[in-house]
Amino acid sequence: MHLHHLLYALAALQPVTATSLINFSAANGDNPSTLGILNLEEARGDKISSNTADLYAKLGTDPNSTPALHYHRKEGYIRAEYHALHGQTAEDETYYIGYKFSLGTIEQSLMIFQFKAYAGNDATDNGANIPLSLEFKSGQLHLQYQADYTAKREPQWSKTLSTGTVYSVGIVIHTGKPGWVEFYFDGEKQTFSTSRSTRLEANTWTGQTEPKFGAYRGEEVEIDTYVYDVQIGTELSDIVVAAGLGGSGGSSSSCEWEGHCAGASCSTLNDCSGDLVCKSGVCASP
Ligand SMILES: *[C@@H]1O[C@H](CO)[C@@H](O)[C@H](O)[C@H]1NC(C)=O
Repeated sequence: MHLHHLLYALAALQPVTATSLINFSAANGDNPSTLGILNLEEARGDKISSNTADLYAKLGTDPNSTPALHYHRKEGYIRAEYHALHGQTAEDETYYIGYKFSLGTIEQSLMIFQFKAYAGNDATDNGANIPLSLEFKSGQLHLQYQADYTAKREPQWSKTLSTGTVYSVGIVIHTGKPGWVEFYFDGEKQTFSTSRSTRLEANTWTGQTEPKFGAYRGEEVEIDTYVYDVQIGTELSDIVVAAGLGGSGGSSSSCEWEGHCAGASCSTLNDCSGDLVCKSGVCASP
């Protein structure tokens, strides 16, 4: 066997390792373009290609002077989002998405995250399928699920949030029909109100479907939202910081057992390095 054939054969035998797809930190001054394509829309249908004073997503600070990706939208405008992983998602894969944000305003129908279908939508009236979304209704943030474009978006988990507070979410999506979803909020794995389980069986793939971060709808008021970290990968350890896993922002100082540090999956205490404990299936600070 030629050496390079041998190397390919060996590479194929390697265990699947974590692949970080997006690792954006406003504190590091990362360029927001690493998040993907900027989508700005004034009135519905009026798309613009770059930031203006009334509609933008750019590095700045939140009202506490913490570095953040600042999304700003004038009243009446409809969209300021980053569209990530364009053309890079596939069926029968598991994506880990971490998202750390705060809100200057909470408004009805404001959507701050979409896992949006770009295929399998209603061709006749452009009805869009948004299999998963984080949307405010009645003052609460809901993780919503839509089975296909004919179905309603139904809340699966809900929480009352405050403005001026930093929150972390972790959304785990196995793409399929059906696939499944798991959800972390402020580092804790959540139970869905519908499935009464930490896993929701869901049609997460009715065609090409990709994540978006920012502000969509809720156009009755001026919107300011702040995003600190976005991480997307193929393992929970890829989203430790953005999903708020592992207590101290993932900077576990004394972890010697690689692969068993804060954010690693576990089933018992013994699966985690040193003082770390196994909380909701994830190694974390005690
Ligand atoms: C993300 O980037 C930071 C540096 O900005 C690095 O310390 C960290 O290991 C990266 N995380 C992943 C999962 O690649």
